[in-house]
Amino acid sequence: MPATAQAATNARRWLIAAFRSARNIATDLRHGQFTAAVPGRHGDTNNSDHKVLQAVFDQRVRPGDVIIDVGCGRGRVLAHLLRNHPGHRVVGIEIDHELAATTARRFADEALCEVIAGDAVAVLPDDATLLFLFNPFGEADIERLRVALEARPATQPPQRLLYSNPRHLGGFESSDAWTVRMNTLGGGRLVPFHDLAVIDRVV
Ligand SMILES: C[S@@+](CC[C@H](N)C(=O)[O-])C[C@H]1O[C@@H](n2cnc3c(N)ncnc32)[C@H](O)[C@@H]1O
Repeated sequence: MPATAQAATNARRWLIAAFRSARNIATDLRHGQFTAAVPGRHGDTNNSDHKVLQAVFDQRVRPGDVIIDVGCGRGRVLAHLLRNHPGHRVVGIEIDHELAATTARRFADEALCEVIAGDAVAVLPDDATLLFLFNPFGEADIERLRVALEARPATQPPQRLLYSNPRHLGGFESSDAWTVRMNTLGGGRLVPFHDLAVIDRVV
């Protein structure tokens, strides 16, 4: 591609990214709190784009689902779920205890929302049915989560996972206990959104 065309493409990408940042900030503020730029344990500082959350959860939340945000940071996903999928119990788990305490204070008045401090693999609630992940884990953590889910007693409800930007799917793909379906979430050709893996427990 000639240098001028490449520069024009880069400029359009930059404009799209800037527009999305502004839209996310505006939606955050409508939800009552700015949540951007949460530093992750594995160097990932991103929050999910609000449009991505819409595309992830619409048509995929089922009646009675108890929805877990694995690595909830400041609670952007929790706020999205409370507003757009009311009536569901919503749980955020955050390994950074200070951040978890701040997020818990934010949602203290929400009867259906709980924020738990700790490692999501260790403190996953027994009634969890739908787990959302946006890249909070490295490969070893994803494997720990998969093994822990497979070890859950049959009396507990089966789990589905919605894994946005799924970097470490290998263990789920090679296990007979799960089916993995990949979905694109749109966003356009220049700056597409990350893919989504929908991972179902085979019962
Ligand atoms: C990239 S942020 C995602 C925030 C939010 N889920 C979203 O999609 O906008 C990832 C968060 O996961 C947390 N985290 C990393 N490992 C975790 C673990 N094992 N258990 C719970 N939280 C974890 C990090 O501290 C960080 O706040």
